[in-house]
Amino acid sequence: MTDGPRPTETQAWQALKIHREEMGGAGLRQFFAEDPGRGERFCAEGAGLFLDYSKNLITGKTLSLLVGLARERGLEARRDAMFRGEKINVTENRAVLHTALRAPRSASIMVDGRDVVPDIHAVLDRMTDFSDRVRDGRWLGCTGKRIKNVVNIGIGGSYLGPEMAYLALRPFSRRTLNFRFVSNVDGADFTEATQDLDPAETLFVISSKTFTTLETMTNALTARQWVVEALGRKDAVAAHFVAVSTNDAKVRQFGIDTANMFGFWDWVGGRYSMDSAIGLSTMLAVGPENFRDMLAGFHDMDEHFRTSPLESNLPAIMGLLTVWYNNFFGAQTMGIMPYASCLKRFPAYLQQLQMESNGKHVDLGGRFADYQTGPIIWGEPGTDAQHSFYQLIHQGTKLIPCDLIGFCRPLSPLDHHHDLLMANMFAQAEALAFGKTAEELAAEGSPDFQTPFRVCEGNRPTNVILAERLTPKILGSLVALYEHNVFTQGVIWNIDSFDQWGVELGKVLAGRITPELTGAQAPKLGHDSSTNALIGRYRRLKGSD
Ligand code: F6P
Repeated sequence: MTDGPRPTETQAWQALKIHREEMGGAGLRQFFAEDPGRGERFCAEGAGLFLDYSKNLITGKTLSLLVGLARERGLEARRDAMFRGEKINVTENRAVLHTALRAPRSASIMVDGRDVVPDIHAVLDRMTDFSDRVRDGRWLGCTGKRIKNVVNIGIGGSYLGPEMAYLALRPFSRRTLNFRFVSNVDGADFTEATQDLDPAETLFVISSKTFTTLETMTNALTARQWVVEALGRKDAVAAHFVAVSTNDAKVRQFGIDTANMFGFWDWVGGRYSMDSAIGLSTMLAVGPENFRDMLAGFHDMDEHFRTSPLESNLPAIMGLLTVWYNNFFGAQTMGIMPYASCLKRFPAYLQQLQMESNGKHVDLGGRFADYQTGPIIWGEPGTDAQHSFYQLIHQGTKLIPCDLIGFCRPLSPLDHHHDLLMANMFAQAEALAFGKTAEELAAEGSPDFQTPFRVCEGNRPTNVILAERLTPKILGSLVALYEHNVFTQGVIWNIDSFDQWGVELGKVLAGRITPELTGAQAPKLGHDSSTNALIGRYRRLKGSD
C-alpha cells in the first residue's frame, strides 16, 4: 500500500473515534468491577514473554475494533511482505530483512534472486571463530600481549544495540575482558573511554554500516593514531582493529584488511542491526553460544509475530495500544520502565528504534500525515524512576502509558532484593491503574486539608511484560517484540518505518559550519542572525578571533 485511503478514512478508525467518545471517562476501577476475569483474559504469551495488558483503558470492544483497524490497514499482508523480503522500504527501494539475520541455517530467503541465509551464517561462523580466538587468547596484540579491552566505536544503531546488549547480558559476559563504547564526536568520549587502557591490550571494533559517519570515522582515526603512536608501529592496525560494515571499499581505505571485516547488507537498517555483525562486541562479551541463543529468542518472537492471530499477537497488540493512546487519547509520549538495572540502556535503545522509525510526517504516498504518528519514547529503570519522575505519571496532567518490564528470577545472587524490586513493579502498575480516592483517604484518617493533594486519579495505563529470567534468549525476544510493535504502528499510520531522511539536514549544515569554526580567518557568515552570532561568540571565546 502506498496511497489508498488514509488511516483516518478507514471504517475501523471512524468506529474507534465513536467508541472513544462513548467510553468518555470510564476507567479501570469500573472495567475491573464489571469484568472480574479481565486480569486473566487481557493477557497474551509468546516467545518466553508474558504480556498483561489488562490495565489499559480498553474494553473487549476496543480490542476488536483495534484488530479490525489492523486488518483494514492490511497488517498481515504487510508483515508477510516484510518476511518474504519485498522492498517495503519504498523510499530507499530496499528489502527489510532483519528477520533473516536470525533465521535458522535450514531456511531460505531470497533477495534479488539470491538466498541470503548461507551468507548470513557464513558471517556468523567467521564472527564465532574470531570471538573464540580473542576470548581464548589466540588473537594477540601486535606486541604479543593478550587482548584485555574491547572498544566499540560506532553511533546510533552501531552503538545503542551493542551497548544495551552488553549491559543487559553482563552477568553472562567474560569478566576478564573490559568493554567500552565510544560514540560521541565529543573528544571526551574517546579520552575517558581509553585513559586507563593499554593500547597493546586493546582491540577496536569499528562499527558503521556506511563507514562514512562523521562521528565514527573521527573517533576511528583518533583510535588509530592512539594505537600507532603508543606502539610505534604502523602494522599495529592489523592486530588492533576490526571493522563491521557493508562498505568494503571504505574499510580498505581506512587501512583495515577486509579479512578482518565482518559484513552485513543494505537490507538491515542501522536500528535493526544489533543481531547482525554489528553485534560482534556482544558476541565477544558473551560468547558465540549465548549470542546464538539471543538470535534464537529473536527468531521465536519473529515466528510468534508471523503466525499468531492478531488477537493474541504480542507485538500487534502492543502496537495497536500505542495507536489507541496516540491517536484517540492525545498521548504524546510513552514510558519504558524496565525493572532490571541491567536493562538501563533499553529505553535509549528503544528511543532510536521507535523514534527514528516512526517519527515521520508523510505517508507512503508522500502525502502529509494529518494525524499523529510516532510518540516520544523515554524511560529509566525502576525503582530509580519511582524516586525521580513517577510523581508526574501518577498525579500530573499528562497521560503517559508505560511499559513495565520485569523478571521472575534474578541474575544477581542477592535473591532477597528481587522480591522487593518486583513488589515495586506490581505495586506501581496497581497504583497507576486504580489510584486512591478521597473516600479511601478519609477512611484512612488522612487530614481533610491534605485530601486533594493526596488523591491519585488512577487510569494511568500500563503494559506489564514478565519473563522468567533475563537470559540472552529472552533479550532477543524482547527486542524483536519491540521491532514488530514498531512495525505494526508504522503499518497503521501508513508510513515508511525504515528510512530516516530527517537526520540528513543537520548533518549537511554541520558540514558547512565546521570550516567556519576551524578556519584561522574570521569567516564571512551567511546564516540567520542567531546562528551568525553564536558562531561569532564561539570563535571569540575559544580565542580564534
Ligand atoms: O544518523 C542516523 C544514522 O544513519 C542511523 O540510522 C544509524 O544507525 C547511524 O546513523 C549510524 O550509521 P552508520 O552505522 O552508517 O555509521
